[in-house]
Amino acid sequence: MANNPRKPDWNPRADEVLKDQIRTYDTIRVKCAVAWSDYQHWTLFRHGDVMRVLEDHQTFSSAASSHLSVPNGMDPPEHTPYRQVIEPYFSNQAVNEFEPTCRNIARNLIKRLPDGQPFDVVEQFSRTFALQIQCAFMGWPDSLHEPLCEWVLKNHQATLARDRKAMAEVAHKFDGYIHGLLETRRQAGANAPRDVTTSLMEETVNGRPMTDEELTSLLRNWTVGELGTISSSVSILLNYLSEHPDLRQRLADHINELPDAIDEILRIDAPLMSNRRVTTRDVEIGGRRIPAGEKITILWASANRDEDVFGNPDAFCPRKNGDRNLLYGAGIHVCPGAPLARMELRVLLEEFLSSVDTLEPAPNGQPERAVFPTGGFSYLPMIIGKR
Ligand code: HEM
Repeated sequence: MANNPRKPDWNPRADEVLKDQIRTYDTIRVKCAVAWSDYQHWTLFRHGDVMRVLEDHQTFSSAASSHLSVPNGMDPPEHTPYRQVIEPYFSNQAVNEFEPTCRNIARNLIKRLPDGQPFDVVEQFSRTFALQIQCAFMGWPDSLHEPLCEWVLKNHQATLARDRKAMAEVAHKFDGYIHGLLETRRQAGANAPRDVTTSLMEETVNGRPMTDEELTSLLRNWTVGELGTISSSVSILLNYLSEHPDLRQRLADHINELPDAIDEILRIDAPLMSNRRVTTRDVEIGGRRIPAGEKITILWASANRDEDVFGNPDAFCPRKNGDRNLLYGAGIHVCPGAPLARMELRVLLEEFLSSVDTLEPAPNGQPERAVFPTGGFSYLPMIIGKR
């Protein structure tokens, strides 16, 4: 393939790609593992190339956007103190303390699912679960569920279209919600609720409190991290278990195998498609010369199915593949929310498997795959039979 960045090797937004992103990535990976497109610039499809980027943050900077992005868009040394502020919020203790709330939310949601009637998993289960746990974890009111849900959808649409004006409007709208939450707490002073949001407002970075701009950016990244990926993960997991009834039965009988199984299913079918970097010097990857200052797209959804590392990408082998699974990334930006996400998905499935006896695709319902930048489904009709 020509080494000329002006000639696209593929079109990530073509209908045939969006229809089934993961299968298309599988075919491109073997033909053109480092591919140029106008939309994603340099896309890395292979596990080895992605690892090289994750392990060399000096050459592959995370400062790929002109907007402030705490901590996702930062490099060391700037990144380090923000990361230190964030990590304790996802410690074992913090996650364990949140588990009973999460279990309650899961139980109530499952109770409300129709028994023996078709329903859309995305609308009635995955999205609602993600919204409710996010708001409960942050200490945000239930009245934010609806606006946040709409915000996530608009954010994805604007990102897919790369519509800068729409993206700015969507960001502005989110900032408004956050501003409201911060102001309420400031006015309450000592009476402010003792929750994650208030606690973040009291954190210091480099010896000073975080500015509202920094707090808003950080909260936006947590919200995107949680709402998009958790919601996609839930529908992917239910779809996979409906297609693999033997595995569903095995996990219902051996609940301790759930954590590794969840990670492996989400390796096979990625909830998060990609992240970006920018080169700080000329490099060569996969036989392509990439100049300094070029944008790179790390395609998790492809790297995690690389046959050079995993063999048959669809083979379910949690033990064999666990160590090299890039579901939560690697290196200095590895997902700080992973312990929380893992607990939330495990608890949801524990509750689901103990109350649901049958799980099948709804007859006459055609599932629809979500499109970039989201993984999973936009519509997933199913029927469950409760115990
Ligand atoms: C299944 C769910 C999730 C998946 C698959 C996921 C995946 C990832 C990945 C792959 C990265 C690395 C990005 C990069 O290298 O550029 C990342 C970073 C991040 N994630 Fe998650 N994540 C999930 C849930 C969460 C949750 C629940 C939160 C917080 C509430 C969260 C917050 C973040 C943040 C703040 C970063 C940036 C870290 C940094 O730049 O140092 N994620 N996530």
